[in-house]
Amino acid sequence: MGLHVGIIMDGNGRWARARGFMRTQGHLEGLKAAKQIVKAASGMGIDFLTLYVFSTENWKRTAEEVGFIMGLVRQYLKAEFTFCRENHIRVRHTGDLSRLPPDVVKDIVDVCRDTEAFTGMQVILALNYGGRDEIVRAVNKALTGVSGNALEINENVIADHLDNPDIPDPDLIIRTAGEYRTSNFLLWEAAYAEYYISEKLWPDWSDADLAEAIENFQKRERRYGGVRAVSVSGNHHE
Ligand code: IPE
Ligand code: IPE
Ligand code: MG
Repeated sequence: MGLHVGIIMDGNGRWARARGFMRTQGHLEGLKAAKQIVKAASGMGIDFLTLYVFSTENWKRTAEEVGFIMGLVRQYLKAEFTFCRENHIRVRHTGDLSRLPPDVVKDIVDVCRDTEAFTGMQVILALNYGGRDEIVRAVNKALTGVSGNALEINENVIADHLDNPDIPDPDLIIRTAGEYRTSNFLLWEAAYAEYYISEKLWPDWSDADLAEAIENFQKRERRYGGVRAVSVSGNHHE
């Protein structure tokens, strides 16, 4: 099927608050949910799974919370290599690596390199990711080494300089915890993505929720601005 699904994993803080826990506990539970969803996704015809882990705006949080999230990411990257190898999962990154702590960058670069040859599902971690930031970096990359007005920016130029130009645009973007906004996720790529909002908080998400989202997506009629529907499998029908 070759689906690309993006998930805005939201609601960790609210999950914790509802139980009288620290926000960090919510992130710990959120990581458990993420592991479960990654395991389930590869069996559901998903070829690309982009997880929104940390946005360019999330630096506004306390140093303690930010540090905790970065620590969890490192722990996850180290602990899951065997799982990735056994399940042929390739890990990739999107976002601005240059503004992340060097130890986090090293762990990301290492796991991306070590899983590069795995040909199963690709899990793209959006870490220090902002949609606007990605577009600005893409334009700057395109302009590097170009003198004067030699380069005309068009849609292809931008698309070719995004963080992972080979990855197809997302088909479905899921947001948990009931917020109806993009929060700067995949702004360019999601031009024709289908959105699915779940009221459930991210730590409460499980395989069944992902299956329900996919089932809902498969009933959508995608028209891409045209008149005829394009089925989710990509075939035109009247
Ligand atoms: C999502 O959960 C995780 C990150 C943004 C890192 P939140 O931490 O945003 O949880 P809420 O929105 O406060 O409930
Ligand atoms: C979006 O959630 C970012 C991630 C899930 C990593 P936020 O919790 O940061 O979004 P807002 O602040 O509610 O828009
Ligand atoms: Mg939130």
